[in-house]
Amino acid sequence: MSIDYSQRIPNNVNLSDNKRLQRALEAWQPRYIDWWRELGPDGYQDIDVYLRTAVSVDTGGWAHFDYVKMPDYRWGIFLAEPEQDRQIGFGEHKGKPVWQDVPGEYRSTLRRLIVTQGDTEPASVEQQRLLGKTCPSMYDLRNLFQVNVEEGRHLWAMVYLLDAHFGRDGREEAEEMLDRHSGDPDKPRILGAFNEATPDWLSFYMFTYFTDRDGKYQLASLAESAFDPLSRTCRFMLTEEAHHMFVGETGVGRVVRRTCELMKEHDLDDPADVREHGGIDFGTLQRYINFHYSVSADLFGSEISTNAANYYTAGLKGRYHETRIDDDHLLAENEFELQSFEDRRRVVLRTSELTALNQRLRDDFTKDCQRGLDRWNKIIEEHDLDYELRLPDQAFHRQIGAFSEGCFTPEGTLVSDSIWRQNKDSWLPTEEDFAFVASLMKPVTEPGKMANWIAPPARGINGNPVDFEYVRLA
Ligand SMILES: [Fe+2]
Ligand SMILES: [Fe+2]
Repeated sequence: MSIDYSQRIPNNVNLSDNKRLQRALEAWQPRYIDWWRELGPDGYQDIDVYLRTAVSVDTGGWAHFDYVKMPDYRWGIFLAEPEQDRQIGFGEHKGKPVWQDVPGEYRSTLRRLIVTQGDTEPASVEQQRLLGKTCPSMYDLRNLFQVNVEEGRHLWAMVYLLDAHFGRDGREEAEEMLDRHSGDPDKPRILGAFNEATPDWLSFYMFTYFTDRDGKYQLASLAESAFDPLSRTCRFMLTEEAHHMFVGETGVGRVVRRTCELMKEHDLDDPADVREHGGIDFGTLQRYINFHYSVSADLFGSEISTNAANYYTAGLKGRYHETRIDDDHLLAENEFELQSFEDRRRVVLRTSELTALNQRLRDDFTKDCQRGLDRWNKIIEEHDLDYELRLPDQAFHRQIGAFSEGCFTPEGTLVSDSIWRQNKDSWLPTEEDFAFVASLMKPVTEPGKMANWIAPPARGINGNPVDFEYVRLA
């Protein structure tokens, strides 16, 4: 299934055969470009950036790299190959053929799922729009823009589904995707984490590590959907998403490495002293981790959720790697153990797995998050330094779910409001932390040069050296 680039909207869905749909998307396209120019990367619209563009949806070799001015990026509609005779893998329709059209009874639920996912995509572009001005290197600047154009494409992916399968309602939703804006007091983005600012590059790496990883788990569970166009869309989006999390993991890892190097070079025992040498101390890193993990954990929703159970039973949203799980895929009989907070006490609940699917997905996410922490700690260990970065307990700093009813330390101990207030500044980034990190954010624009607070990457992009001219500023 090759992608047709001769069309105004590149696609592999034979868009030219469906004139109504083609017209709807072509009418939306100029509004999208206006949005991109206005709320996309600030100040870099007319320069050449070395970007990858999807040219096929094959697992091997799907991308083409070249210089492109971002507004000319070929945003398009790419679905993964259909799976022959694919059957619904779970829920009450299990074993029946997957749907190519939306069943009437699930129309509004599916629309809401698609809109909620779609809304996050342009939100992150808006959140990151000022970061280019303070890039730590040309390599990083390019990666930021790569993430941004692909989040833009993910919006296209969701808008395609809305326009193709939800008629007039879908078209209205597509318009509203560009009307809501991150942090807008009147028309905010749908989910909390997507209205937070991404004020500096450390926040950007944390966001792409933790929040894009929430995206991975949401997309992976939608990739199991009985609604086949959604499944195929999400499967291809996951291919792109992997790079975003790579940017986050290696970004934080490089900050950790540089901090270690500075501590060694200046023979520092107290990690806090690294600030004097222009590095980001472990304490600040830990507070950023605490913030971004907890905000991203909220995105999975309440521990116990009948909505999640209904999505599953209907076949709309599966578990992570549903088809690899060996059970009846109905879950009515499965028990699930989870932690909760009742009558001001932490409790362990045994409940039906069906109602605990949000928590199950959050658990999968948390395990995945820990892998990066392990790699970052290994860097610290390799430098013979005694410090360990940790994921906070799932109860810490939650705004959604049972734990939002109490105050908990990063270790998960219930504390009073006053203890929380007294200690909050050692658990979450403070104004002073943000100001310090902001003070380090000075643009580095010479190819191959890195800001002092971050180590160079192990290698460049697409086989190019680290000092390749990834962005042509001129
Ligand atoms: Fe995305
Ligand atoms: Fe992403």
